[in-house]
Amino acid sequence: MRSVIDITDLSKEELASLMETANDIMKDPGKYAHACAGRKLATLFFEPSTRTRMSFEAAMYELGGSVISMTDGATSSAAKGESVSDTAKIVSCYADIIAMRHPKEGAALVAANAASVPVINAGDGGHCHPTQTLADLLTISREKGRLCDLTVGLCGDLKFGRTVHSLINALSRYENIRLVLISPEELRLPDYVYNDVIVKNGMKCVQTPDLMWALPQLDVLYMTRVQRERFFNEEEYLRLKDSYILTKEKLNHARPDMIVMHPLPRVNEISVSVDDDPRACYFRQALYGKYMREALILMLLSECEKNDAKTY
Ligand code: CP
Repeated sequence: MRSVIDITDLSKEELASLMETANDIMKDPGKYAHACAGRKLATLFFEPSTRTRMSFEAAMYELGGSVISMTDGATSSAAKGESVSDTAKIVSCYADIIAMRHPKEGAALVAANAASVPVINAGDGGHCHPTQTLADLLTISREKGRLCDLTVGLCGDLKFGRTVHSLINALSRYENIRLVLISPEELRLPDYVYNDVIVKNGMKCVQTPDLMWALPQLDVLYMTRVQRERFFNEEEYLRLKDSYILTKEKLNHARPDMIVMHPLPRVNEISVSVDDDPRACYFRQALYGKYMREALILMLLSECEKNDAKTY
């Protein structure tokens, strides 16, 4: 029985296969409409979410399965002190697969070690967010037609932005990716990602605080929100929150075929005037996430079936 806690839990071949399945679901959803009949997904969200939880739930319904949901840790027995491990053991009795978001780094791994069904990490603190990366990879592949030979700018809160950490890990597997890391000094990528992923894999990379310098070079611009909930100091957040605001005027300096991505939610970092630009693909990105989550649920449940791995 296998869980997905980090994007590196999936091989490059599996990523390709998940994208193929997601594309096929988009083409012919009827073929998959009963694929998970009789199966249940539990969504355990100890942190707020719109896209991840709802797209997981929509994904399971579109596969013919059903969903049980905990939308807020405060209304579960976690509020009485129940541990993540015990919660995962109990929910394994009620569901065939779990998607969990938690504010603590490593919580999804703790849940996976205790659960008897697959656990999918739907975001653990500032650590990683592998299913957002699945959405991101499908977006780049569909919008740019390739996952190699790209200059990718990652802009904003690279310190706490878990989607960035997972995406860099995934991109390290593809040929000729050049990263441009755009952030204020205080929000630079953590050393554990910079050293263990970028340096270790010999990725081409530059770091700069200057979005306007970077913009004309990019094939992909991945904007991120400054993660208020991860700051210890509100004043520091207020000082940094509007470090980058992408406007229609700034976009005039970008290549005509550059794409603008954002895991969302956005706050101020992309002006709404950018939404109508054909290069803006963040809303499609959120849609692609649903199909990639369908593909992942299918893959993990079919592995369970093959291994007959569910134990009580
Ligand atoms: N991208 C993302 O994780 O969005 P939510 O926080 O709304 O799930």
